[in-house]
Amino acid sequence: MAEGEKERGGATRLAEKARGVVGAVLGRVTANTLGAQSAKTFVKNAAIGDMYELEAAKLALANAHSPRVKDVAQQMIDDHTTLTHQLRSAMRMNETGDQTSLPTEVDERRKQMLDELRRVPDDEFDKLYLDQQVLAHKETVDLMTGYAARGDNPQLRSVAASGAPLVTRHLRHMERLREELAA
Ligand SMILES: [Fe+2]
Repeated sequence: MAEGEKERGGATRLAEKARGVVGAVLGRVTANTLGAQSAKTFVKNAAIGDMYELEAAKLALANAHSPRVKDVAQQMIDDHTTLTHQLRSAMRMNETGDQTSLPTEVDERRKQMLDELRRVPDDEFDKLYLDQQVLAHKETVDLMTGYAARGDNPQLRSVAASGAPLVTRHLRHMERLREELAA
């Protein structure tokens, strides 16, 4: 899709959007392979994932058109605030390798995704938000299920095991909403 749009000389915005989607897919692979076992990588990826979702949800509360998108955004704020607290308390309660604090900002890829949400034309916001959320949640489901199965720290494994079904519900919710709003 990305190449087709570029070849047709489509708007820069379309190319940027395509790059963001590709970035998200590549990121999914990274989270899945690198985050599955090490506490340090798991904590970093989980915390950045939460931060990205919280920021994106704030943008959705301000800019989404559909009340249902705003509702799901509020749900993400509630649930990912809780997940971040669980991550913090797991780190306080147990050894988590050399990862002793949470990152304070998102990575470049998610920064770019958030920028896309800030720049997208008004009438395309809901679609882009849901597209990003579906990809981001697939990535987080991989991260959580991978670490829950093979992670090196029992405390964090239990955070991942309890987070995985919640994030899977988020993914299903986002996919359903995207389908229904597109119909
Ligand atoms: Fe979520």
